[in-house]
Amino acid sequence: MNQFTKITATHITHFQELLGDENVFFDTVQLNEFGHDETEDLVFPPEVALTPRSAEQVSHIMKFCHQEHVPVTPIGSQTGLSGGALSIHGGVGLSLKKMNAIVELDEKNLQITVEPGLITEELQNAAIEKGLFYAPDPSSKGSCSIGGNLAENAGGPRAVKYGVTKDWVLNLEVVLPNGEIIWTGSNTLKNSTGYNLTQLMVGSEGTLGIITKAVLKLIPFVPNNVSMLAPFTSATKACEAVSAIFRAGITPSALEFMERDALDWIMKFDNSSSIHIEDSTQAHLLIELDGTNMDLIYQDCEKVAEVLEKFDCGEILLADNEAQKAEIWRLRRRIGEAVKSNSVYKEEDTVVPRFELPTLLEGVKKIGKAYGFQSVCYGHAGDGNLHINIIKGNLTEHQWNQELPEAIREIFELTVSLGGTLSGEHGIGYVQKNYMDIAFNKTELLLLKSIKNVFDPNGILNPGKLFVTT
Ligand code: LAC
Ligand code: ZN
Repeated sequence: MNQFTKITATHITHFQELLGDENVFFDTVQLNEFGHDETEDLVFPPEVALTPRSAEQVSHIMKFCHQEHVPVTPIGSQTGLSGGALSIHGGVGLSLKKMNAIVELDEKNLQITVEPGLITEELQNAAIEKGLFYAPDPSSKGSCSIGGNLAENAGGPRAVKYGVTKDWVLNLEVVLPNGEIIWTGSNTLKNSTGYNLTQLMVGSEGTLGIITKAVLKLIPFVPNNVSMLAPFTSATKACEAVSAIFRAGITPSALEFMERDALDWIMKFDNSSSIHIEDSTQAHLLIELDGTNMDLIYQDCEKVAEVLEKFDCGEILLADNEAQKAEIWRLRRRIGEAVKSNSVYKEEDTVVPRFELPTLLEGVKKIGKAYGFQSVCYGHAGDGNLHINIIKGNLTEHQWNQELPEAIREIFELTVSLGGTLSGEHGIGYVQKNYMDIAFNKTELLLLKSIKNVFDPNGILNPGKLFVTT
């Protein structure tokens, strides 16, 4: 266990001189604001929160904290679901929210250079204005920031066709835990030069360095899309239909699964009655098809409908006007919020090869029955990525704190036995670190820890995440 230095008045004065009083926060109410993300009801405030405005300021902070053995927790826009931004050991909460500029949009090379605090949707809109497309679209795109997306390797519905955040990254400026500033690669579409530090940094959950600039790839804007909402009387059959769609030669731009409860809860939460759900419906698939040619899109819709029929699908709602599409997707994106408004929950972010999705879903329900918990499942079925929201509801503290970890272990063991892994897009962070031994053997875990040690020998950057030992 690391011995960390507590923040003192001298530290605070030092930070005020460096950043100005307006960028140093140590009042309890403010610290609590910096002490949470969207993970359960967890709050771990830092001892001081800082809002630097440049890579040079981040570098000074890191150099100082490295020397003083002060822990530093990078904080994005606090929408994370694995507790990555929680200041478990106090210390400095390093918020990147004021570093939110678009540094350059290079239309000649279809690239954009941004700071980490930029909200993802603002990046998407800046691209659209130039007829370009940045595809990664986490559900929280209106409030999450690109730094957090990079740290967690965020995905979202469109990942099934366009890839996750990692697939859009060309180069990163990173402040290392000792304060040195590096670039991880080059602004080229190809790069076979040395180890891939760029991809090592993506998904490293703020444990290896602090991303202060990102060069991202753009593509020409894709103008047309249509969404299909398909009801099923069996959730398992809905999941079985997923891999059949791809095997029929279709690559949807989104393929989402929602259990009945997920849609019921969001419609109640949102006060919406826009979707009629038959009593017999147990689940929906939400399928988006996009492209430049509407005729081809409609042809694909017909092919998808033919596939779905084989899995006892009910009447499909075809949404091809903007208002209808916006309504359906708004509901889909807010499911997490709706579930949270009902009860505290634990979010698991399991991912399996997509053909195994029905087996995973059935296994989760069986484990739920054995341990007595309710789960609401939904997610990016096309990626085999199932969000399992385990509802606290009336569970006792003993069930929630002592028994549930056993059940979660069983869920993860099942996931891994199906060829899957613990997290598809939310990360391990604070809440899943006890399960890393299920995904990695001792040798593999040692390699991961050794990498951490090379970057951060004093263990000051985002301690208490990923591994049980820090
Ligand atoms: C979603 C978030 C929770 O898919 O990842 O809505
Ligand atoms: Zn998701």
